[in-house]
Amino acid sequence: MTKAVNARLDKLLSSMGYGSRREIGGLARADRIVLNGENVNDVTRRIRVTADLPTRITVDGIPLDPVAGLVILLNKPAGVTCSHNEAGPLVYDLLPTRWRRRDPALSTVGRLDKETSGLLLLTDDGELLHRITSPKRKVSKTYRATLSRPLNGDEVALFASGTLVLKGETKPLDPAILEVMSPTEAHLTITEGRYHQVRRMFAACGNHVEALRRERLGQFHLPEELAVGSWRLLGGEEQQLIFR
Ligand code: URA
Repeated sequence: MTKAVNARLDKLLSSMGYGSRREIGGLARADRIVLNGENVNDVTRRIRVTADLPTRITVDGIPLDPVAGLVILLNKPAGVTCSHNEAGPLVYDLLPTRWRRRDPALSTVGRLDKETSGLLLLTDDGELLHRITSPKRKVSKTYRATLSRPLNGDEVALFASGTLVLKGETKPLDPAILEVMSPTEAHLTITEGRYHQVRRMFAACGNHVEALRRERLGQFHLPEELAVGSWRLLGGEEQQLIFR
């Protein structure tokens, strides 16, 4: 889709989830698609696929979604799953339905546990997804953990040591930074993404994570004004902060 210089309008909009090609025809007949200020009559016409398309096409008066390289920032609530097909509420249910029909499909950038909340990215950009999640890049992730028991005082040194081995594993964890905020609250910054890593790190110290929220990816902070369950597109400069 994105490599083609020209594309049929109905095919393009269909691949972006706006409906079947027939439905796109229906939208045009109802004057709901506007290209360069004029209603579109012929949806089989070919148009140049350029990054500025959202400034030239509107559907129902709303600028077109980015054609490719859609990066969505979601403030994930606890209780929803990062999956396309598991039972129960899914993160995709929080987004416009057309985004579930995009081709290439949207995926979450890594996963948060069902009960973890906070900063979650979704994208159709496979290369960006790989850059953020690749173990070689060591993009840092900062979580705020609420614990059921007071910290015992050893955790900062233990997590920073690079010697902690999680239950059932043999390879020690990379050093991690723990910033204690109160006896039962702390920020933990890790550069790996092992299964249930944060919860298992505290479990290794005899503690239990009651609530977990991701607040930062690299130097990009979850904006305070983004309500839980809300999303917005992530701009290019914000994406760069992830790699700082
Ligand atoms: N570590 C966890 O234990 N859970 C998450 O969701 C993310 C990191």
